[in-house]
Amino acid sequence: MTSGGFIVRKGGTPERDPIQLIHSEHLMMREVLDAIDRLVLEPSSHLSEAALEPYGYLRDEYLAHHLDEDEAMFPFLRQRAEPEDRIDEILDRLEADHDNGHGQIGRVLTILKAMVDNDKAPCGQDFETLRFFAASERRHLIVENAIVLPIARARLKKADLAEIYGKMLARRGFDRVMNEIEGRTNANPVSGKE
Ligand SMILES: [Fe+2]
Ligand SMILES: [Fe+2]
Repeated sequence: MTSGGFIVRKGGTPERDPIQLIHSEHLMMREVLDAIDRLVLEPSSHLSEAALEPYGYLRDEYLAHHLDEDEAMFPFLRQRAEPEDRIDEILDRLEADHDNGHGQIGRVLTILKAMVDNDKAPCGQDFETLRFFAASERRHLIVENAIVLPIARARLKKADLAEIYGKMLARRGFDRVMNEIEGRTNANPVSGKE
């Protein structure tokens, strides 16, 4: 679950469309938020196990996803959007959400890690912190999925998408791996092997 939107299934090919990748990351984030809700509202007898996936995903992907948006997709959107999209005010709000998230994520990870280590349900302020985090992240996802990604699909050019995709790969150190896979596939398009 910690590879973000970069799903490379066995025998399959990686998704090259950065808008689709970001959407896939949003789907995974929604699963993580649902898992956090279950952890605080219906703590199970396997709390440690149940906290592990949300902890790992947020630890490995949360900041990288924000950087994909703040440094790769949003600048292109500001450049390409039409005035009627009113994109600047929307992206200003989303970037402020990201900053707020950066202020919360350390505490959220500490609480989840304690659940993984101690198998105990959060209470008091920790309960409220997780509830607040899940609710604010869910609102953020709704705006990005309903407004931002459709505008990106309509306005971004092919070259923009290629550059965003390249930045997303490079951020995770996947660029050299992908070049290697694509080089092999191009060398032998039938088998994909040398
Ligand atoms: Fe997002
Ligand atoms: Fe975002």
